Amino acid sequence: MFVCAVALLCLVSVSHSAPLSCEDLLRPLDQLNPHHLKGRWALVAGSLSDPAYLERFKRRNSTSIDFSSFSNATSSVSYTPSVDAGGKCHYHTHNVSVEGSVFTFDVREQVNLTVTFLRTSCPDCLVMRYDNESKKVERLLLFSRRRELEQKEMEEVNAQMECLSMPPPAIMDPNKELCPEQSVSDSAAAQT
Ligand SMILES: *[C@@H]1O[C@H](CO)[C@@H](O)[C@H](O)[C@H]1NC(C)=O
Ligand SMILES: *[C@@H]1O[C@H](CO)[C@@H](O)[C@H](O)[C@H]1NC(C)=O
Ligand SMILES: *[C@@H]1O[C@H](CO)[C@@H](O)[C@H](O)[C@H]1NC(C)=O
Ligand SMILES: *[C@@H]1O[C@H](CO)[C@@H](O)[C@H](O)[C@H]1NC(C)=O
Ligand SMILES: *[C@@H]1O[C@H](CO)[C@@H](O)[C@H](O)[C@H]1NC(C)=O
Repeated sequence: MFVCAVALLCLVSVSHSAPLSCEDLLRPLDQLNPHHLKGRWALVAGSLSDPAYLERFKRRNSTSIDFSSFSNATSSVSYTPSVDAGGKCHYHTHNVSVEGSVFTFDVREQVNLTVTFLRTSCPDCLVMRYDNESKKVERLLLFSRRRELEQKEMEEVNAQMECLSMPPPAIMDPNKELCPEQSVSDSAAAQT
């Protein structure tokens, strides 16, 4: 019985013969450096578990996020997604706290998502996994300082999505402009 199970496992891993196992592909970063996050990142590709929401997501012109830190002494950073959809830019600034490879939203924000940064071989990318309250993956988003990545880098994130049984991702059009960065006064207004 035991031998049988082992043989089966071997067959499965041989037939997939991928360079990395899902366990490796879905490993979180050991430690996220909040300073590394600072600045702007463009969404390159993303998948959502909910196919209906993925369809709407595909119609976005562009998405980016800006991270900034309040001071070096704390692990709180602000997280501002900018979405160009429906003919205009939408901004939402959230305070989040970073611990290890995970960030969580301030309880007052009523956003019950946990975001984990996964390891990636791409040096200027962020692979962010958003889990809901039941710890089920809702989205996996690939951001980069670049608008377009090498095929090898795309294959890695596609494999990560497959490991999570997510649908094929939306690939963002690198030629569509990102929303302008919010000015300081805009973001102060958004936080009130
Ligand atoms: C915060 O830390 C970064 C990197 O460690 C350093 O370059 C920067 O000068 C620090 N900023 C302040 C205000 O201390
Ligand atoms: C995308 O941008 C174009 C031109 O800027 C705009 O007309 C269109 O409504 C935008 N599409 C969406 C889904 O926002
Ligand atoms: C998030 O959780 C809090 C407390 O558990 C709950 O009051 C709130 O309605 C939840 N928000 C959403 C958007 O589900
Ligand atoms: C989390 O996501 C799973 C799968 O999409 C869903 O079945 C579950 O109801 C969600 N939980 C919450 C609290 O939204
Ligand atoms: C986020 O944190 C900063 C600094 O602690 C604070 O000034 C600001 O009011 C907070 N914003 C929200 C939306 O909680």
